[in-house]
Amino acid sequence: MRRILLLPAALSLLTTISTQSTSPKRGLCHVHSSLHPSDDLIWISGRNNPTWYYNYGKEPSPAYVSTKDMQFVPMLWGASDKDTGTPFYNSIKSQLDNGANIKYVLSFNEPDTTHAVGGSDLTTSLAASRWKAEIEPLRALGIKVGAPGVTGAESGWNWLDNWLKSCDGGCNPDFMTVHWYGNFEGMMSHLGRVTAKWPDKEVWITEFGYPKHDLRMTQEFWNMSSRSLDSWPNITHYSYFGAFRSDVSNVGPNAAMLDQNGALTDIGSWFLGGSATNFVPKKSSGSLTRQLPRIFKYIGQLGRWLW
Ligand SMILES: *[C@@H]1O[C@H](CO)[C@@H](O)[C@H](O)[C@H]1NC(C)=O
Ligand SMILES: *[C@@H]1O[C@H](CO)[C@@H](O)[C@H](O)[C@H]1NC(C)=O
Repeated sequence: MRRILLLPAALSLLTTISTQSTSPKRGLCHVHSSLHPSDDLIWISGRNNPTWYYNYGKEPSPAYVSTKDMQFVPMLWGASDKDTGTPFYNSIKSQLDNGANIKYVLSFNEPDTTHAVGGSDLTTSLAASRWKAEIEPLRALGIKVGAPGVTGAESGWNWLDNWLKSCDGGCNPDFMTVHWYGNFEGMMSHLGRVTAKWPDKEVWITEFGYPKHDLRMTQEFWNMSSRSLDSWPNITHYSYFGAFRSDVSNVGPNAAMLDQNGALTDIGSWFLGGSATNFVPKKSSGSLTRQLPRIFKYIGQLGRWLW
């Protein structure tokens, strides 16, 4: 029994979930809304939960602590020159000691871009030394560790090459992670390049989408990309960037998986293995009395959303 069955959002969802299937590769890129905390529960109220999730931080989202079939993937988001000790490693170790089912971790969110656009803005030498302190030792505990989540731009390729040089053999990711914002053809070509460069590594896409396009094109992107990712053996995990309401989306309203009232959009429902809801995402919400900051992807040192 899930207590969420009492919530209106969950009730409206129940009527839309059909027998359509989902994919075990599918994960939730969890963006908590402090304004609408019950939105968290929408993602675990379908027939099949996403099999994994991450929230840009090292500890599970409170709403999912007891959701056993959705595996938490901790992330070391960034680093600072002032970092000392191994707080990330220690946290993962103690979660494991307390029985947590952690098999993977993610590292460094968009280190090749600035804080202003959501990146962790790291020099490759700092990222190498923090990786060696915090991430590499996790492998001895049986954890599989993901390479830094660089952007899909040329700066991402350069950053990764320079990082590996800075590591001098001391950083050994078990899998690669990819972010992609752009059209379907571009994503396929980018992924082709990643899998060609790292043929022996599994690839995760931890953020992707086709931002700021019309609804039909955005849905077509979801349809084509989810189908391709499901059938591409090298790609083992993917999480679409869209688990938020359309009125606060920084990737355009049509890419969001919730409309301005918190109901699943077609893409949101398809993501969960349901059928179209016909809820059309809008840019603004009539019920808000003040404008919310649109800064969306920036996470501070404490791993908290600004809004
Ligand atoms: C996307 O797929 C759904 C079925 O899952 C279909 O109903 C819809 O027409 C498709 N949309 C586009 C634009 O391809
Ligand atoms: C990726 O795909 C290539 C070509 O199909 C294959 O040879 C390779 O084993 C795959 N790698 C992984 C990790 O699945």
